[in-house]
Amino acid sequence: MDKVIILDFKAQYCQLIARRVRDLNVFSKILPGDSSIDEIKSENPSAIILTGGPDSVYEEGAMSVSRELFELGVPILGICYGAQLMAHVLGGKVLPADQSKAEYGKAEATFIKSPLFDGINKGIVWMSHTDYIDKLPEGFESIATTSECATAAIANIDKKLYGTQFHPEVNNTEHQKEIFSNFLFKVAGLTPDWTSDNIVEREVAKIKEQVGDGHAILGLSGGVDSSVAAAIVERAIGDHLTCIFVDHGLLRMNEAEEVEKVFKEKFNVKFIKIDARTRFLEKLKGVTEPEHKRKIIGEEFIRVFEEAKKDAKDAKFLVQGTIYPDVVESGSKKDDVIKSHHNVGGLPEDVDFTIIEPLRDLFKDEVRAIGTKLGLPKHMVDRHPFPGPGLGIRVIGEITEEKLDILRRVDKIYIDMLREYELYDKIWQAFAVLPDIKTVGVQGDKRTYSYMVALRAVNSIDAMTATAFNFSYEFMQEAQKRIINGVPEVNRVVYDITSKPPGTIEWE
Ligand code: XMP
Repeated sequence: MDKVIILDFKAQYCQLIARRVRDLNVFSKILPGDSSIDEIKSENPSAIILTGGPDSVYEEGAMSVSRELFELGVPILGICYGAQLMAHVLGGKVLPADQSKAEYGKAEATFIKSPLFDGINKGIVWMSHTDYIDKLPEGFESIATTSECATAAIANIDKKLYGTQFHPEVNNTEHQKEIFSNFLFKVAGLTPDWTSDNIVEREVAKIKEQVGDGHAILGLSGGVDSSVAAAIVERAIGDHLTCIFVDHGLLRMNEAEEVEKVFKEKFNVKFIKIDARTRFLEKLKGVTEPEHKRKIIGEEFIRVFEEAKKDAKDAKFLVQGTIYPDVVESGSKKDDVIKSHHNVGGLPEDVDFTIIEPLRDLFKDEVRAIGTKLGLPKHMVDRHPFPGPGLGIRVIGEITEEKLDILRRVDKIYIDMLREYELYDKIWQAFAVLPDIKTVGVQGDKRTYSYMVALRAVNSIDAMTATAFNFSYEFMQEAQKRIINGVPEVNRVVYDITSKPPGTIEWE
């Protein structure tokens, strides 16, 4: 399988580049920009993309790459900082632009005939740079210009090295699909074989070989990821898979019953439901710090699975529905950790299983496409994501039965309303949060001192970035009315309008 390695120089649009490549059915993987040449070589890349980034190549401490990278014979596309880096490392000159040469926003580019711009002559491109390539390295030519920039794109066509000063990955650039497609197929000669069918086939073959005659257990949450993971592993090892559904007491209303019903009806796997409500809540008693909660929940899950082993033919393998953004967000280096997603960073160190993660390389919408392909019911595939630690990270502060019960009722009213107003499928993820705050209100002429709840609804593509969903005023009014009337412990409803970044989607 062809693989495009994306070297990330702390680019704002790094994920978007990975998506553009995958949308053209080529596998892409992001590595930190300061990966060593040996680390890059060990990935056996078919092509490499260097992202943009905030540094200036000529400054001390700027992220860089070794000259050897450009001598591997692998086609390379540098974008913005990546193009400047290519020019700089290969002996060209990059300078800070004076006011007149810095460009932000749209510019009209003229493309000079080259494999990267095959079939396109002109187009609007998105510029965002304060440095520019003043002198090209030997063997390079300019293959695009704008009125401000004589080196809007550069190339050493023989060596298949290309750089664009503009950002082909953003929607504001015209012909973005053609540019990526030209790079992947006309320059690098890759094969578009990253398709749902191939992904399933490859994973099934890999799991068959890995598990052999052994047995695996899978922690089912009823969410999209673990359900799709179950469907893939079932294909590989059939009844050697046992699905374990842990009711940790942090589920939404009726969730345990619904998951059990769907799985018993739809899947031909062994299904065990474990009621672990008391032990989770005991462990979480008095705990308020979000990372601490996550670690406790992650660890307790594993302990429950370990105990369930005896009912699963002494399984040596544990399947997890970890997806690519979980891996990126949990961070490869300690100081990068944003949150310990419970199926990655939240794992205890002494796990007594070999972990299988069939979705580890996939973005959410790729997981959904595979789910549909494998025949999972629509309401399951299109469900909003639900985090492993469940309501435990939506009850802010100490988790108690009382607070969980309030949050469950609020969440149900809110989500039912989204379905009633046909908004559920237009929203990427929606849920209610119970902050640890009581406020004063007045109901029926009487003073109240009750809980405040927050509603969250976001637009997103892959959870890496998000914006708040723009509800109508009428919807919000109706929601607050129904929630306050329906849940007597609540007297105030607020809507969270924070984007990600700077916020995250969940509150903890
Ligand atoms: P954040 O809050 O980091 O969430 O912006 C991004 C997406 O990930 C989900 N999420 C999790 N999923 N285990 C999961 O399986 C976790 O520990 C976890 N934490 C957050 C979150 O709901 C959102 O969709």
